[in-house]
Amino acid sequence: MTDLPATLAACADAVLTTADGRAKTALSKRCAEAWFAGREAGTPMPIGTGNPPDNPARPEKPELLNPRDMPRRRPGSAAGRLALLHAVAHIELNAVDLHWDIIARFTATTMPMGFYDDWVKAAAEESKHFNLVCDVLEGLGSHYGALPAHAFMWRAAADTRDDLLGRLAVVPMVLEARGLDVTPSMIALFQKADLPGAVSALETIYAEEVSHVAYGSKWFHFLCGRADIDPKEAFHDLVRRYFHGALKPPFNEEKRAEAGIPPDFYWPLADEVSPAGHSRNTRP
Ligand SMILES: [Fe+2]
Ligand SMILES: [Fe+2]
Repeated sequence: MTDLPATLAACADAVLTTADGRAKTALSKRCAEAWFAGREAGTPMPIGTGNPPDNPARPEKPELLNPRDMPRRRPGSAAGRLALLHAVAHIELNAVDLHWDIIARFTATTMPMGFYDDWVKAAAEESKHFNLVCDVLEGLGSHYGALPAHAFMWRAAADTRDDLLGRLAVVPMVLEARGLDVTPSMIALFQKADLPGAVSALETIYAEEVSHVAYGSKWFHFLCGRADIDPKEAFHDLVRRYFHGALKPPFNEEKRAEAGIPPDFYWPLADEVSPAGHSRNTRP
């Protein structure tokens, strides 16, 4: 087993430049263990300076397609369920890279140690999620890479590569919050299909994703407070700048509240009027 890099940012770079999914997530887990061992011993790994790639290394398969060209499958069919699980595996692998990227990319901004604790923990959880979903796929006779996957997953990261506040607004507080909205119906779909392995993987993901959204909200508010700006207005401006399209109800208001995102953050960005009358998104 090779030694780990000496700084947290170099660990993050190493994960981002590892292509194979199982190898990437194994390295991610080892880096997280080393980080928390150092924190517990009172000798934390230095943060260092990151040099993350523009795009994380990815395996040769899956083939990455424009979402327009992705084959359509009925969600109730066996092929549709496999395609859905494959898409979740792809999202989880992307999430591993997103959480290490936020660590490596913004080292010029001094942040409290808790910022790094949160994203390292989130990255380790995403690594577990990827492996859980891969195990389910393999149990069903498929694997990650067997189907094409969405090519534009990294767009939000690329768009916010120079803007930590924008990254927090768009990635954990919009994209990961969207996961909280849609996961319960996915769990129901796999329950109906009597696939308990998939149900249990998705239940783990659902339970742990709340904290990733909460970390986003926590550090977003922290940075707004540091800059003395209004968090709600900043959130609306940044999502309008970096996120392409309106937010889609129905929202999981309970889990969003648990994660520290109140309705007046997301309803004004939605494509319909909220029950409380928050104004409609007025973007063209
Ligand atoms: Fe996840
Ligand atoms: Fe996450």
